[in-house]
Amino acid sequence: MRDNLLRFLHELCGKAMATRGMVGEFAVAFRVSRIISLFPSITMKLSLIRSAAASLSRGNFAKISSADLSFFEKSIGNDYVKTKEIDNYTSDWTRQMKGSSECVLLPTSTEETSAILRYCAEKRIAIVVQGGNTGLVGGATPIYDEVVLSTSRINKRFHLEASSGVLTLDGGFILADADNRLAERGFMMPLDLGAKGSCQIGGCVAAGAGGIRLLRYGSLHSHLLGCTLVDGKGTILNLGGRLRKDNTSLHTAHLAIGSEGQLGVVTSVTMGVVPRPQSILSAMLAVSSYSDCIRLLSLARSKLGEILSSFEVIDGDTMKCVERHLPLKNVFEGEHNFYLLIETHGSNGDHDAEKLNGFVEEALGAELAVDGVAANSESERAHMWRLREESPLAAAKDGYIYKFDVSLPLEHFYRLTEETREKLKGRARVYCYGHLGDGNSHLNVTTDGEDEELKKELSPFVYNWVVSHGGSISAEHGIGQLKRDYRSLGKSEEESALIRSLKDVFDPHRILCPYKMIHSQE
Ligand code: MLT
Ligand code: ZN
Repeated sequence: MRDNLLRFLHELCGKAMATRGMVGEFAVAFRVSRIISLFPSITMKLSLIRSAAASLSRGNFAKISSADLSFFEKSIGNDYVKTKEIDNYTSDWTRQMKGSSECVLLPTSTEETSAILRYCAEKRIAIVVQGGNTGLVGGATPIYDEVVLSTSRINKRFHLEASSGVLTLDGGFILADADNRLAERGFMMPLDLGAKGSCQIGGCVAAGAGGIRLLRYGSLHSHLLGCTLVDGKGTILNLGGRLRKDNTSLHTAHLAIGSEGQLGVVTSVTMGVVPRPQSILSAMLAVSSYSDCIRLLSLARSKLGEILSSFEVIDGDTMKCVERHLPLKNVFEGEHNFYLLIETHGSNGDHDAEKLNGFVEEALGAELAVDGVAANSESERAHMWRLREESPLAAAKDGYIYKFDVSLPLEHFYRLTEETREKLKGRARVYCYGHLGDGNSHLNVTTDGEDEELKKELSPFVYNWVVSHGGSISAEHGIGQLKRDYRSLGKSEEESALIRSLKDVFDPHRILCPYKMIHSQE
């Protein structure tokens, strides 16, 4: 223990030297490309998807005709109306959510998007909006024969106003590409996700994406200043603007956050970006109890203050699962009940190391943590992040998987895992990892084969438990088709009615993303 403490403090000092004046892009890029390259190889079986889709019949939408295809070809060019080899668009990246579509449209601008939507509204043609197709709830996957409108080609405009740190970019810009361009100017995207190499900024806004830096930089609500939304009638709505402060009316641009394509297509985003940190330090702690994890979070908040950027948890069973299914080794010897991955972003390596040092010293001294390891190089840091960010992949390889993404008050965060484990004893394996600093748990349950009985009881159990403990059934992944049948849990009838009336304003014919968060038949 003492040796570990000394090793840790020594490594921290070394780390400060190593990262002074250096940004962590290499590690981030490495981490992301690993994740992305692994995505297509997953053979994950998500439960509920078929049953959720099956409970709604096809809406009264028009079938695509050859005249419709001719119109689309005339509007956006023959090459960008795809009717063949469209599997990548009709299934999600897990390849388990599979739907059908007659055609995929790839407009290149807001105006082309508007022409398509105006036409589809008139003809009552159903559309599903798709960005990078990295979502985890099937929101961008068609179900019956919806036309897929992909924003992938709307990715030309990128304008950074360096003095104010305000960026305007097209909605189809890939998050990592935008971040790399910002890096050249000393800025950084405030959000970071495992899917960074594929997800698009418009999709991030529509999904209300959270990710691993939310603790430090806040949610998209802190950054989004304006956006262009093409609604379900084809109207181009320029919402908000580029000012940091504008309190003249409702903050309409924020309606796009978490809208999941229900209100329109996000073709342009204006947002605040942040200075790229000069120093990034990462460390992992091994912890024996959940209550100590919570005490460590409070300690990290008070000792690390403004530089605390990530506070992630991996439980002991998940770490064993990672080691079992992936060519990855725990950074600690021996087994522990919890692992915390802590990262700081700051502007002065010495100052940050001193702070992290003080935090770790206190954590070990007070015996809140039983061991600690600091990343001493970019590859060590990447290794730590792989343990956390490849936890979903390890769980997916463990068997038939039932995935949950929930928000819970911290006092209940881990009790859900414990009670699910207790309930499913001998029937399933239960894993928990997630963004503990944000109260966002990713609970994953696996069984050897698909278990119909378990499937029927698990989601109602988890979602009712979450809501009755003051949580939310979706923290950052959205509702999509996966959680559609549970979407009103925790919402008042008045709020649901307000949401439906907003839908009627933006998409009166309900052609956008039917059978999902707000569907065509309610
Ligand atoms: C994560 O934080 O790893 C992602 O949201 C993916 C997941 O929940 O499995
Ligand atoms: Zn997550």
